Amino acid sequence: MSLTHRFCVSIFLLLVVFILPLTGTAEDSSLLEVLRRHGLPAGLFPQSVKSFKLDQMGHLEVHLDRPCLAQYETTVFFDTVVKANLSFGQLKVLEGMSREELFLWLPVKDIIVTDPSSGLILIDIGFAYKRLSFSRFDEPPICRSHRGLSFRMVGRKNIGFKDQR
Ligand SMILES: *[C@@H]1O[C@H](CO)[C@@H](O)[C@H](O)[C@H]1NC(C)=O
Repeated sequence: MSLTHRFCVSIFLLLVVFILPLTGTAEDSSLLEVLRRHGLPAGLFPQSVKSFKLDQMGHLEVHLDRPCLAQYETTVFFDTVVKANLSFGQLKVLEGMSREELFLWLPVKDIIVTDPSSGLILIDIGFAYKRLSFSRFDEPPICRSHRGLSFRMVGRKNIGFKDQR
C-alpha cells in the first residue's frame, strides 16, 4: 500500500467513524436553530425529536419517536406528531401538546415570548396563561414514555366534565 493510499483509507475511516453518526442528529440540531432564529428557546421540544418539516408559511410539523412526557416546571405531554404555526416569538400549537393543570390534561395552544428581556415565556392553555422562566427551556428535556397515558387522559377528562355539571 502506498503512503497516499494509506492516507486516503485513514481519511475515509475517519469520515465513517466521526461524520456519519452526526448526520442522524442533524435535523434535531437544526430544529434548535429554527427555534432560536424565531426568538424561541431551543428546549421547547424534547430530545426525542426524530424529524421536522417547516414550510414557508411557518407551518411546523415535528415528529417524535413515540408519545412521551417531559418535565418542565410542570409535566408536558408530547404526541408523536406536533403541529404548530411558527412565527417570530410565537408558536401557535394546533395539536399534539398538552400540559397538566390541576390533574387535568389541557391542550397547549400558544407559546409566546412577549419580551425577551423579561426572561419570561407565556403558555396559553385556552383559559389561562402561565408564565414560565425562559431558562427552563434552554435545553431540550429528556422525554420519557408513559404507557396507558392516553387512556388516563380520556378518563381524567371525563371526570373533569362531570365535576363541572
Ligand atoms: C395556522 O396557519 C394557517 C394557514 O397559514 C391558518 O389558516 C390557521 O388559522 C393558523 N392557525 C392558527 C391557530 O393561527
